[in-house]
Amino acid sequence: MNKEIEHAFAYKFILTFFGISFVYANLRYVVFGLEPLAHIPLFIMNKALSWSGLATIGLSKVLCYSKERKTAGLIGASMIGMHTVISLIILRPEYLGKFYNQTDGMRMTGAGETAILFGVLGLMCIACLLWNSIPRINAAQNSDGATNIFPKLSNVVLLCGAIHVTLMGWSDWFEPSNWAKFGYLPPISMLSFLTAVTFLFMPTPKTTT
Ligand code: HEM
Repeated sequence: MNKEIEHAFAYKFILTFFGISFVYANLRYVVFGLEPLAHIPLFIMNKALSWSGLATIGLSKVLCYSKERKTAGLIGASMIGMHTVISLIILRPEYLGKFYNQTDGMRMTGAGETAILFGVLGLMCIACLLWNSIPRINAAQNSDGATNIFPKLSNVVLLCGAIHVTLMGWSDWFEPSNWAKFGYLPPISMLSFLTAVTFLFMPTPKTTT
């Protein structure tokens, strides 16, 4: 694939993935799940941003050209940055009861806290990747602007993302009867896990400038 084709492919992938995840989240939660329209701007958008952000980071790992890889990485990191801010605003039992215990509904469960811990770890790895993408830092390391000191760090981000969504959604994955009130559409946590694992197993090509 030449540079122009890869460039066009990367943008089309990101836009299409974001569009599909936004439509899917609306279908599952608003059309079938009867979530009020008022929750589209944060609650629903957060699901689309997190799933497509994870996929965009995965995409950046498998691109060949350093500029395209860096651009996709920056877009993915921005989406996950927005996801983190929105999540911290809606991380309350009224929105996300699944993270909170049944007894008083006030404190998080062990699985909920561990899920967030892996989200934070993933975010720290993204911060390291961003730091390494600064040209000044790379120049000091005498690199071409695309390599980083932790070449496998995007795999660690994908792994943290996979554990993060497994801990928050696992209980629903093998109970299709729980999907009935969502039009039998599989949970986004499960689709996100499959997305992360797919990119984890894809090889990283040698970077070309
Ligand atoms: C401090 C960092 C993070 C926090 C506080 C956080 C928090 C959350 C919360 C509260 C949810 C549940 C949203 C919902 O069900 O509506 C969620 C879902 C999700 N998160 Fe994170 N997250 C963080 C970092 C990350 C990172 C680094 C990734 C991936 C690289 C990620 C990927 C996802 C995905 C794909 C979902 C979708 C699961 C679903 O909607 O069922 N998150 N996150």
